[in-house]
Amino acid sequence: MTDKTYDNIKITRDGAITFVTLNRPEKRNAMSPGLHYDMQDALTRLDDDAQTRVLVLAGAGEAWCAGQDLKLYFRETAGDPVERKKSNNASHNWRHHILSTFSKPTIAMVQGYCFGGAFTQLCSCDFAVADEAATFGLSEVNWGILPGGIVSWNLTDQLMPRHALYYATTGEPFSGKRAEEIGLVNFAVPKDQLMAKTMELANRLLNLNPSVVRFTKEAVRSVRHMRADEARDYLGVKQDGLAKADKEIADKVGMKEFLDAKSYRPGLGPYQRPKA
Ligand code: COA
Repeated sequence: MTDKTYDNIKITRDGAITFVTLNRPEKRNAMSPGLHYDMQDALTRLDDDAQTRVLVLAGAGEAWCAGQDLKLYFRETAGDPVERKKSNNASHNWRHHILSTFSKPTIAMVQGYCFGGAFTQLCSCDFAVADEAATFGLSEVNWGILPGGIVSWNLTDQLMPRHALYYATTGEPFSGKRAEEIGLVNFAVPKDQLMAKTMELANRLLNLNPSVVRFTKEAVRSVRHMRADEARDYLGVKQDGLAKADKEIADKVGMKEFLDAKSYRPGLGPYQRPKA
């Protein structure tokens, strides 16, 4: 399938791994209304794209994303309430709703700068790998604005309250290394290892049963805000749904190999799935 081309983003593929790259490097990939519309369209299509089994969100050039475009997203829509609403909806839709419910695992691959509104898509991705020298910052306080959209919510959802309050209130930039220490990213590596580390994670995910990966990430995300008894009920039903969704699960292949054939120890590594 030939991918659609866009003005503000690009789509590239490495087998089952699809890279979606914010592509306004001259503006440090600041998010304009046009970029939001492109991302909304592309992610909607890729969610249903059979070839895509892992999605990597990348940034072209020197930055991952410098946040909302202060000129095109804020200033130039200030006098146009309809365009403001439309771009605001698209912005929220792809960065939170579509990404956080994406049916395949998603990895943020962060280099250079990650500022302000970019924290929403960072937190919506299931995993994040960063250049240890990348610069993260909640610079909103310097503009006299709040970490808005849902950035403040993303921070409290993802970080310990002390870290969320400290970095939001001071606007102090921090490194990829620090982002790893506070749990904002999974791995921080030297820049020349960023792609290799991202691919290692993507390939690990590819080796797993896609239905288990999907149901597990949905379950972990959903139980976060449930009571324990609600979570127990939900997870029971979710497990039944998983068995219905996937024959390999319904056939209990892994369990048979452990208990009957004694050919596999799940605690020691992933089950080697037959090649499709
Ligand atoms: N909105 C609009 N334009 C932006 C932008 C943003 N968030 N971030 C960068 N740009 C533009 C710059 O205005 C500049 O445009 P120009 O070439 O027409 O002058 C271009 O991108 C390059 O930026 P520059 O500052 O020269 O690059 P740099 O590599 O020296 O610095 C940053 C990169 C990201 C540190 C710096 O651009 C910055 O602080 N940006 C603001 C980030 C921010 O606060 N985002 C949160 C918004 S709420």
